[in-house]
Amino acid sequence: MRPGVQERVRALLESPPDLHDGYLDVLGPTAEPTPTIAQRVMQSTFLPQIYERVWRPVGFNLAKGWPVGPDTAAEHTLARDWLGLAQPGDVRKPAATVLDVACGPGNVTRALAAGVGENGLVVGLDAAHGMLARAAADSTGDVAYVRGNAVALPFRTDTFDAVCCFGALYLFDDPWAAVDSMARVLKPGGRLIILTTRRPPLPVSRLSSELLRTLSGVRMFGDREVTRALTDRGFTDLKQRRYPLMQLVAASH
Ligand SMILES: C[S@@+](CC[C@H](N)C(=O)[O-])C[C@H]1O[C@@H](n2cnc3c(N)ncnc32)[C@H](O)[C@@H]1O
Repeated sequence: MRPGVQERVRALLESPPDLHDGYLDVLGPTAEPTPTIAQRVMQSTFLPQIYERVWRPVGFNLAKGWPVGPDTAAEHTLARDWLGLAQPGDVRKPAATVLDVACGPGNVTRALAAGVGENGLVVGLDAAHGMLARAAADSTGDVAYVRGNAVALPFRTDTFDAVCCFGALYLFDDPWAAVDSMARVLKPGGRLIILTTRRPPLPVSRLSSELLRTLSGVRMFGDREVTRALTDRGFTDLKQRRYPLMQLVAASH
Protein backbone atom coordinates (compact mmCIF):
# COMPACT_ATOMS: atom_id res chain seq x y z
CA MET A 1 0.00 0.00 0.00
CA ARG A 2 1.22 3.52 -0.82
CA PRO A 3 2.76 5.02 2.34
CA GLY A 4 0.25 6.94 4.40
CA VAL A 5 -2.90 5.58 2.68
CA GLN A 6 -3.85 3.37 5.58
CA GLU A 7 -3.21 6.11 8.16
CA ARG A 8 -5.34 8.53 6.14
CA VAL A 9 -8.21 6.03 6.06
CA ARG A 10 -7.90 5.32 9.79
CA ALA A 11 -8.40 9.06 10.38
CA LEU A 12 -11.75 8.91 8.51
CA LEU A 13 -13.15 6.09 10.67
CA GLU A 14 -15.19 6.68 13.80
CA SER A 15 -13.27 3.93 15.68
CA PRO A 16 -10.28 2.70 13.68
CA PRO A 17 -9.46 -1.00 14.04
CA ASP A 18 -6.22 -2.88 13.28
CA LEU A 19 -5.22 -4.21 9.87
CA HIS A 20 -6.39 -7.77 9.10
CA ASP A 21 -5.45 -9.65 5.91
CA GLY A 22 -4.71 -6.34 4.17
CA TYR A 23 -7.90 -4.48 5.23
CA LEU A 24 -9.21 -2.62 8.27
CA ASP A 25 -11.83 -4.80 9.94
CA VAL A 26 -14.41 -2.63 11.70
CA LEU A 27 -16.89 -5.51 12.13
CA GLY A 28 -14.40 -7.85 13.82
CA PRO A 29 -15.98 -11.17 14.71
CA THR A 30 -19.51 -9.81 14.01
CA ALA A 31 -21.43 -12.02 11.60
CA GLU A 32 -21.76 -10.79 8.03
CA PRO A 33 -25.17 -9.25 7.16
CA THR A 34 -28.51 -11.05 6.85
CA PRO A 35 -28.06 -14.55 5.46
CA THR A 36 -30.46 -14.37 2.51
CA ILE A 37 -29.58 -16.74 -0.33
CA ALA A 38 -28.09 -13.85 -2.33
CA GLN A 39 -25.96 -12.74 0.64
CA ARG A 40 -24.74 -16.31 1.20
CA VAL A 41 -23.61 -16.47 -2.43
CA MET A 42 -21.66 -13.21 -1.91
CA GLN A 43 -19.99 -14.64 1.20
CA SER A 44 -18.90 -17.90 -0.44
CA THR A 45 -15.17 -18.48 -0.79
CA PHE A 46 -15.61 -19.48 -4.46
CA LEU A 47 -17.40 -16.38 -5.83
CA PRO A 48 -14.48 -13.95 -5.28
CA GLN A 49 -12.34 -16.19 -7.52
CA ILE A 50 -14.66 -15.87 -10.54
CA TYR A 51 -16.53 -12.67 -9.74
CA GLU A 52 -14.61 -10.12 -11.78
CA ARG A 53 -13.86 -12.22 -14.86
CA VAL A 54 -17.09 -14.20 -15.22
CA TRP A 55 -19.96 -13.41 -12.84
CA ARG A 56 -19.80 -9.62 -13.08
CA PRO A 57 -19.40 -9.15 -16.86
CA VAL A 58 -21.86 -11.89 -17.81
CA GLY A 59 -24.58 -11.15 -15.25
CA PHE A 60 -24.41 -7.36 -15.21
CA ASN A 61 -23.85 -6.81 -18.93
CA LEU A 62 -26.88 -8.95 -19.74
CA ALA A 63 -28.98 -7.10 -17.15
CA LYS A 64 -27.84 -3.78 -18.72
CA GLY A 65 -28.98 -5.03 -22.12
CA TRP A 66 -25.63 -5.83 -23.72
CA PRO A 67 -24.68 -5.16 -26.53
CA VAL A 68 -26.90 -2.05 -26.49
CA GLY A 69 -26.29 -1.16 -22.84
CA PRO A 70 -22.86 -0.14 -21.52
CA ASP A 71 -20.22 -2.82 -21.00
CA THR A 72 -18.01 -2.76 -17.90
CA ALA A 73 -15.51 -0.25 -19.34
CA ALA A 74 -18.29 2.14 -20.43
CA GLU A 75 -19.93 1.77 -17.01
CA HIS A 76 -16.64 2.77 -15.30
CA THR A 77 -16.24 5.79 -17.61
CA LEU A 78 -19.78 6.91 -16.78
CA ALA A 79 -19.20 6.41 -13.04
CA ARG A 80 -16.05 8.57 -13.07
CA ASP A 81 -17.82 11.18 -15.19
CA TRP A 82 -20.98 11.42 -13.07
CA LEU A 83 -18.91 11.54 -9.88
CA GLY A 84 -16.82 14.45 -11.20
CA LEU A 85 -13.62 12.38 -11.35
CA ALA A 86 -11.08 12.37 -14.19
CA GLN A 87 -10.63 9.67 -16.85
CA PRO A 88 -7.46 7.51 -16.83
CA GLY A 89 -5.64 9.41 -19.63
CA ASP A 90 -6.35 12.89 -18.22
CA VAL A 91 -3.32 14.91 -17.11
CA ARG A 92 -5.09 16.63 -14.22
CA LYS A 93 -6.98 14.53 -11.73
CA PRO A 94 -8.87 15.75 -8.65
CA ALA A 95 -7.58 15.11 -5.13
CA ALA A 96 -10.98 13.65 -4.28
CA THR A 97 -11.84 11.41 -1.33
CA VAL A 98 -14.01 8.59 -2.71
CA LEU A 99 -15.90 5.72 -1.07
CA ASP A 100 -16.92 2.56 -2.95
CA VAL A 101 -19.71 0.94 -0.90
CA ALA A 102 -20.03 -2.88 -1.17
CA CYS A 103 -16.86 -2.98 -3.23
CA GLY A 104 -16.70 -6.78 -3.59
CA PRO A 105 -13.23 -7.74 -4.92
CA GLY A 106 -12.40 -4.10 -5.69
CA ASN A 107 -13.24 -4.08 -9.42
CA VAL A 108 -15.08 -0.74 -9.33
CA THR A 109 -12.81 0.66 -6.56
CA ARG A 110 -9.78 0.35 -8.86
CA ALA A 111 -11.70 2.00 -11.71
CA LEU A 112 -12.53 4.95 -9.42
CA ALA A 113 -8.90 5.19 -8.28
CA ALA A 114 -7.92 5.67 -11.95
CA GLY A 115 -9.86 8.96 -11.86
CA VAL A 116 -8.29 10.41 -8.74
CA GLY A 117 -4.95 12.27 -8.39
CA GLU A 118 -1.97 11.43 -6.14
CA ASN A 119 -3.40 13.38 -3.21
CA GLY A 120 -6.83 11.79 -3.51
CA LEU A 121 -7.96 8.81 -1.49
CA VAL A 122 -10.14 5.88 -2.55
CA VAL A 123 -11.64 3.49 0.00
CA GLY A 124 -13.54 0.27 -0.71
CA LEU A 125 -15.94 -1.07 1.93
CA ASP A 126 -17.53 -4.50 2.01
CA ALA A 127 -18.83 -6.91 4.64
CA ALA A 128 -17.48 -10.17 3.18
CA HIS A 129 -14.04 -11.41 4.27
CA GLY A 130 -13.54 -13.39 1.05
CA MET A 131 -14.25 -10.42 -1.22
CA LEU A 132 -11.97 -8.12 0.76
CA ALA A 133 -9.13 -10.64 0.92
CA ARG A 134 -9.31 -10.84 -2.88
CA ALA A 135 -9.49 -7.03 -3.19
CA ALA A 136 -6.46 -6.58 -0.94
CA ALA A 137 -4.50 -9.26 -2.83
CA ASP A 138 -5.22 -7.53 -6.18
CA SER A 139 -4.54 -4.02 -4.86
CA THR A 140 -1.73 -1.98 -6.36
CA GLY A 141 -1.49 -0.04 -3.12
CA ASP A 142 -3.30 3.14 -4.08
CA VAL A 143 -6.61 2.19 -2.42
CA ALA A 144 -7.52 0.97 1.05
CA TYR A 145 -10.19 -1.52 2.09
CA VAL A 146 -12.44 -1.58 5.13
CA ARG A 147 -14.69 -4.37 6.36
CA GLY A 148 -17.92 -2.74 7.53
CA ASN A 149 -21.67 -2.64 7.09
CA ALA A 150 -23.03 -0.46 4.27
CA VAL A 151 -26.24 0.07 6.21
CA ALA A 152 -24.33 1.75 9.07
CA LEU A 153 -21.16 3.13 7.50
CA PRO A 154 -18.32 3.44 10.02
CA PHE A 155 -16.97 6.76 8.67
CA ARG A 156 -17.18 10.25 10.11
CA THR A 157 -19.95 12.58 8.89
CA ASP A 158 -19.17 14.81 5.83
CA THR A 159 -16.08 12.85 4.83
CA PHE A 160 -16.31 11.97 1.12
CA ASP A 161 -16.45 14.03 -2.08
CA ALA A 162 -17.98 11.07 -3.92
CA VAL A 163 -19.73 7.84 -2.96
CA CYS A 164 -20.37 4.93 -5.32
CA CYS A 165 -22.56 1.91 -4.65
CA PHE A 166 -22.70 -0.53 -7.55
CA GLY A 167 -24.45 -3.88 -7.62
CA ALA A 168 -25.46 -4.00 -3.97
CA LEU A 169 -28.41 -1.80 -2.93
CA TYR A 170 -30.75 -4.68 -3.83
CA LEU A 171 -28.94 -6.98 -1.38
CA PHE A 172 -29.17 -4.79 1.71
CA ASP A 173 -31.71 -5.66 4.39
CA ASP A 174 -32.57 -1.94 4.65
CA PRO A 175 -31.56 -0.13 1.43
CA TRP A 176 -32.97 3.23 2.57
CA ALA A 177 -30.94 3.13 5.79
CA ALA A 178 -27.92 2.50 3.55
CA VAL A 179 -28.84 5.57 1.44
CA ASP A 180 -29.18 7.61 4.67
CA SER A 181 -25.76 6.38 5.71
CA MET A 182 -24.21 7.29 2.34
CA ALA A 183 -25.80 10.76 2.55
CA ARG A 184 -24.36 11.22 6.04
CA VAL A 185 -20.77 10.49 5.02
CA LEU A 186 -20.97 12.64 1.85
CA LYS A 187 -19.72 16.21 2.12
CA PRO A 188 -22.25 18.93 1.20
CA GLY A 189 -22.14 19.14 -2.61
CA GLY A 190 -20.64 15.64 -2.88
CA ARG A 191 -21.83 13.25 -5.60
CA LEU A 192 -23.50 9.87 -5.15
CA ILE A 193 -23.88 7.21 -7.84
CA ILE A 194 -25.87 3.99 -7.53
CA LEU A 195 -26.12 1.08 -9.95
CA THR A 196 -28.91 -1.22 -8.91
CA THR A 197 -31.71 -3.43 -10.17
CA ARG A 198 -34.69 -2.19 -12.16
CA ARG A 199 -38.16 -3.69 -12.16
CA PRO A 200 -39.45 -3.38 -15.72
CA PRO A 201 -42.81 -1.59 -15.83
CA LEU A 202 -44.81 -4.65 -16.90
CA PRO A 203 -48.01 -5.98 -15.27
CA VAL A 204 -46.33 -9.22 -14.10
CA SER A 205 -43.21 -7.49 -12.78
CA ARG A 206 -44.43 -6.55 -9.31
CA LEU A 207 -45.54 -10.11 -8.54
CA SER A 208 -42.40 -11.77 -9.93
CA SER A 209 -40.21 -9.22 -8.11
CA GLU A 210 -41.88 -10.09 -4.82
CA LEU A 211 -41.33 -13.77 -5.52
CA LEU A 212 -37.66 -13.16 -6.35
CA ARG A 213 -37.21 -11.19 -3.15
CA THR A 214 -38.85 -13.85 -1.02
CA LEU A 215 -36.83 -16.66 -2.59
CA SER A 216 -33.43 -15.00 -2.93
CA GLY A 217 -33.38 -11.71 -1.00
CA VAL A 218 -32.79 -9.70 -4.21
CA ARG A 219 -34.98 -6.59 -4.43
CA MET A 220 -36.04 -5.04 -7.77
CA PHE A 221 -36.53 -1.26 -7.66
CA GLY A 222 -39.17 0.63 -9.59
CA ASP A 223 -38.14 3.35 -12.03
CA ARG A 224 -38.92 6.17 -9.61
CA GLU A 225 -38.13 4.44 -6.31
CA VAL A 226 -34.43 5.29 -6.05
CA THR A 227 -34.72 8.78 -7.56
CA ARG A 228 -37.59 9.56 -5.16
CA ALA A 229 -35.57 8.30 -2.17
CA LEU A 230 -32.78 10.68 -3.17
CA THR A 231 -34.97 13.74 -3.71
CA ASP A 232 -36.72 13.00 -0.39
CA ARG A 233 -33.28 13.23 1.23
CA GLY A 234 -32.50 16.59 -0.36
CA PHE A 235 -30.35 15.35 -3.24
CA THR A 236 -30.45 17.51 -6.38
CA ASP A 237 -29.15 17.43 -9.96
CA LEU A 238 -30.48 13.90 -10.55
CA LYS A 239 -29.40 11.76 -13.49
CA GLN A 240 -30.81 8.36 -14.39
CA ARG A 241 -30.20 5.79 -17.10
CA ARG A 242 -32.57 2.86 -17.37
CA TYR A 243 -31.52 -0.52 -18.73
CA PRO A 244 -33.71 -3.63 -19.06
CA LEU A 245 -33.03 -4.94 -15.54
CA MET A 246 -30.72 -2.32 -14.04
CA GLN A 247 -30.66 1.42 -13.47
CA LEU A 248 -27.90 3.94 -12.89
CA VAL A 249 -28.75 6.94 -10.74
CA ALA A 250 -26.56 9.84 -9.66
CA ALA A 251 -27.20 13.00 -7.67
CA SER A 252 -25.56 15.83 -5.72
CA HIS A 253 -25.87 16.06 -1.97
C1 LIG B 1 -22.50 -8.07 -6.45
S1 LIG B 1 -21.24 -7.55 -5.36
C2 LIG B 1 -20.87 -5.93 -6.00
C3 LIG B 1 -19.40 -5.70 -6.13
C4 LIG B 1 -19.04 -4.42 -6.91
N1 LIG B 1 -19.55 -3.24 -6.26
C5 LIG B 1 -19.56 -4.48 -8.33
O1 LIG B 1 -20.31 -3.59 -8.75
O2 LIG B 1 -19.19 -5.41 -9.05
C6 LIG B 1 -22.18 -7.16 -3.92
C7 LIG B 1 -21.32 -6.94 -2.69
O3 LIG B 1 -22.13 -6.37 -1.65
C8 LIG B 1 -21.59 -6.81 -0.42
N2 LIG B 1 -22.58 -6.56 0.62
C9 LIG B 1 -23.83 -7.06 0.71
N3 LIG B 1 -24.45 -6.57 1.81
C10 LIG B 1 -23.56 -5.73 2.41
C11 LIG B 1 -23.62 -4.90 3.56
N4 LIG B 1 -24.72 -4.82 4.32
N5 LIG B 1 -22.53 -4.18 3.87
C12 LIG B 1 -21.42 -4.22 3.11
N6 LIG B 1 -21.31 -4.99 2.02
C13 LIG B 1 -22.37 -5.72 1.67
C14 LIG B 1 -21.31 -8.29 -0.70
O4 LIG B 1 -20.41 -8.81 0.25
C15 LIG B 1 -20.73 -8.23 -2.10
O5 LIG B 1 -19.34 -8.15 -2.10
